[in-house]
Amino acid sequence: SYPQRVKLVDVGPRDGLQNEKQPVPAAVKVELVHRLQNAGLTEIEVTSFVSPKWVPQMADNAEVMAAIARKPGVRYSVLTPNLKGYEAAVLSRPDEIVVFGAASEAFSQKNINCSIAESIERFAPVVEAARAAGIYVRGAMSCTVGCPYEGEVAPERVAYLAGLMRGIGVQHIGVADTIGVGTPVKVRKAIEATLQHFDINDVSGHFHDTYGQALSNTLAALAMGVWQYDTSVAGLGGCPYAKGATGNVATEDVVYMLHGMGIDTGIDLDQLIDAGAFISEHLGRPTQSRVAKAVLAK
Ligand code: HMG
Ligand code: MG
Repeated sequence: SYPQRVKLVDVGPRDGLQNEKQPVPAAVKVELVHRLQNAGLTEIEVTSFVSPKWVPQMADNAEVMAAIARKPGVRYSVLTPNLKGYEAAVLSRPDEIVVFGAASEAFSQKNINCSIAESIERFAPVVEAARAAGIYVRGAMSCTVGCPYEGEVAPERVAYLAGLMRGIGVQHIGVADTIGVGTPVKVRKAIEATLQHFDINDVSGHFHDTYGQALSNTLAALAMGVWQYDTSVAGLGGCPYAKGATGNVATEDVVYMLHGMGIDTGIDLDQLIDAGAFISEHLGRPTQSRVAKAVLAK
């Protein structure tokens, strides 16, 4: 049986907008966050405190965090790759920070400029400081199915990274298919590997839709009892260090599927579609959400 209730984390403002060619003004990002929280999202991944030389789109991190009118019951998360990022992030009072590693060595090098082992050494003091400050710590694991540089990634690699994350005190773990090459059985194996170290209630799925498999993969994870997912409004996104990667699965599409299955999300689909239309209009291109396209065409 499937979970009766699912929590979606909209990562559009971060994962979605980090890859845009044209700079997106902070005010537009803030408006997007406001629209998402008004649509019923209870967790939003707002930005990242990474090097502005690596990801210029997130250079306005503090400005965006400061301008959000926080809604009670909504959690605001940010990415922090190292202590420098954490120290800057904490001034913005995030509810949650995200350390992000990769199951493949090559992706770790390309994305955060260090090996998997080194990344864990960098994360450890971040996790310690966050937990001491009462900030919830999530870990994200990229390339848990496939890597743009190494090809297929074995579940053992996922179990290895999940174990390291657990070992440094990460409280929740995201299983990401960064380049969207996963299919349901492979995704299930990556999640099973993660479950060697984390409870099902502390695991989320993060599926990119590059190959059109993200809803199938979500359904496979639901069947395992995974009830938390990262999704991106309008299907925004891609990763600057994963060429050809398209966005996360569109939040609208996942909400439509879940509601159709009788699973509660607390999200108002119409308001969510409006939020997606707002950002798509700003970016000057059509939404990537099939559901939004269908609804708006009516
Ligand atoms: P590095 O060059 O190895 O870092 O980069 P460093 O410690 O040697 O420092 C070099 C320079 O960067 C110094 O500045 C530091 O001060 C500065 P300089 O002296 O040259 O002027 N610096 C920073 N500045 C601001 N904030 C910081 C910071 N750290 C150092 N936190 C680093 C290492 C991790 C910083 C770099 O590789 C980086 O920023 N990478 C960006 C990674 C990124 O944001 N990737 C996209 C997000 S991951 C993703 O999308 C996947 C995910 O969605 C899941 C999935 O789908 O798979 C999560
Ligand atoms: Mg991602």
